[in-house]
Amino acid sequence: MSILSATLARVKPSPTIAITMKAAEMKAAGRDIISLSAGEPDFDTPAHIREAGKRAIDQGKTRYTGVDGIPELKAAIAGKFRRENGLDYAPSQVTVGSGGKHVIYNALMATLNPGDEVVIPAPCWVSYPDMVALAGGTPVIVPAPMQTGYKMTPDQLEAAITPRTKWLIFNSPSNPTGAGYSRDELKGLTDVLMRHPHVWVLTDDMYEHIAFDGFTFCTPVEVEPGLIDRTLTMNGVSKAYAMTGWRIGYAAGPKELIGAMAKIQSQSTSNPCSISQWAAVAALDGPQDFIRSNAALFQRRRDLVVAGLNAAEGVSCPVPEGAFYVYPSIAGCLGRTSRGGRKITDDEAFATALLEETGAAVVFGAAFGLSPHFRVSYAAADDLLRDACTRIQDFCAGLR
Ligand SMILES: Cc1ncc(COP(=O)(O)O)c(C=O)c1O
Repeated sequence: MSILSATLARVKPSPTIAITMKAAEMKAAGRDIISLSAGEPDFDTPAHIREAGKRAIDQGKTRYTGVDGIPELKAAIAGKFRRENGLDYAPSQVTVGSGGKHVIYNALMATLNPGDEVVIPAPCWVSYPDMVALAGGTPVIVPAPMQTGYKMTPDQLEAAITPRTKWLIFNSPSNPTGAGYSRDELKGLTDVLMRHPHVWVLTDDMYEHIAFDGFTFCTPVEVEPGLIDRTLTMNGVSKAYAMTGWRIGYAAGPKELIGAMAKIQSQSTSNPCSISQWAAVAALDGPQDFIRSNAALFQRRRDLVVAGLNAAEGVSCPVPEGAFYVYPSIAGCLGRTSRGGRKITDDEAFATALLEETGAAVVFGAAFGLSPHFRVSYAAADDLLRDACTRIQDFCAGLR
């Protein structure tokens, strides 16, 4: 009899982490590698946030806290929702977990029964379908191709909803495409949701602050307040404040759901790191100006990468509204053979050949549920991005 559970067979390990690890191993072995596979800002946590963490240590704030967050952080989060999203959540409607990923996991574990369906537009963040499966639910993938700007249409949402649908997972701006839904586009979706009162919305707003060309971020409840009693509005400090390693994510929603999530957390991780919680208070209550300058920096890099990729033969890269990813198509490269003799049968073969032959690490589109594409994370220095684009252009020029 195997020591491993049957549940484990329902999930696969994160392909983005696997590729990032493989690139790191190749680098350690002396290869010249540029990794554009990891989804994290390449700058340090701002000084005032780091100082708040150090102060928390020195002041002895190093003990267990309330299971789903200290009151000070819950108040700061409620303040953030009021200030930035016009949403009025009481601190008792707020939960804090060890990263945004953990918060989503708690929500799915607390709500899904076998046979419950979760609608997920794809390409999507790699963890959604596996977390749904781990929690015993069934992911229902809705293809959102390049032709519709990588966005699900209201008709597609309508067609995907069944009596068994429990959640829609919504993510804008998106990992992996950078696509952001305008207020009107989002209204089209919320109108559909208003016709199906049994469907809940889990909105993942992690990339809220990384938006370009004047794009205005909206979260579903802002657009349709009628959804407030069945929406979990999730966000975190990882991307906006360059705090990926601190592991703080949060969400707000109906009290019953928040309580159920705390129950799961109380029997698994208990509270998120006390020191990180104090640092997150400083992040949310402190100066916000660097967020805008970081977004401007990312916009410049986006333009550099989009131009560099569109200059590669067989690659077509649309211009995304936000996040720090692009998701070009490689339809024009399929069926060809690389200089190293590798046949480009699909996007995984493309990414593998690219890494082996040029040292540029990107994530293949199948990992996100839409092929033939690859994802570039451009949270890297300009010279590395230029170098990577040159390698990709050279690789594509060599395809026969
Ligand atoms: C769309 C999306 N949601 C959630 C997360 C998880 O963030 P955290 O690092 O806070 O767990 C990520 C991280 O890559 C993400 O891209």
